[in-house]
Amino acid sequence: MNAGLPDATADFDVLLSAVDAGATECALNSRVHGPRHWRDVARIGVALARETPRADPAVVFCFALLHDTQRLNEYEDPDHGPRAAAFATALADRGLLTLAGDQLAALVSACECHTGSGPVEHTTLGVCLDADRLTLWRVGKVPDARYLSTVAGRDDAAPRWSRELVEGPDVTWAAIFAEYGLARADRRDHDRPTDVYVASDRADRTRRRANCGRRTPE
Ligand SMILES: [Fe+2]
Ligand SMILES: [Fe+2]
Repeated sequence: MNAGLPDATADFDVLLSAVDAGATECALNSRVHGPRHWRDVARIGVALARETPRADPAVVFCFALLHDTQRLNEYEDPDHGPRAAAFATALADRGLLTLAGDQLAALVSACECHTGSGPVEHTTLGVCLDADRLTLWRVGKVPDARYLSTVAGRDDAAPRWSRELVEGPDVTWAAIFAEYGLARADRRDHDRPTDVYVASDRADRTRRRANCGRRTPE
């Protein structure tokens, strides 16, 4: 089994059911932060990961699926990222995310950082944050390249294709999962951070936050 994603569709369905059961009502019913948005982030993420050496598509997929599941309201909820990180850890503890330790650490960092972080150096975190930011079209905002981390995200063509995707038809999770299956097959050289940690104490949380970029004014 490739670390990160379940091999069988049945396992993936179990994961989706657990996400449905563990996400907040606000998130599940949200037009701007709900499941359609999660799928858009996943689709943009896989496109960016394909163009970003050492990015780990398994982490990107899990980030897309989980990062906004814990919103309590549509407006000011700065702790929804850390709550999503805790949710990801709980799913991993239940065996529903088959992530290696460093992959889970990157996922936790990405969830914690995603609300307002500026550009980051870590490739997988950068793909996660860029994929989320390139969906700003859904709320009538133009993604600002100054706050994007990856070369693929800052590419001149990215605004056009990301906008078309966000404003175009939705697709199923099964289709997205299959797309990631193709992406992960040719990705064996994932970035393996040594400075991102999975731990619950305050010092390690501080170190994880050090992976986040400078806060953006958003
Ligand atoms: Fe969010
Ligand atoms: Fe988001």
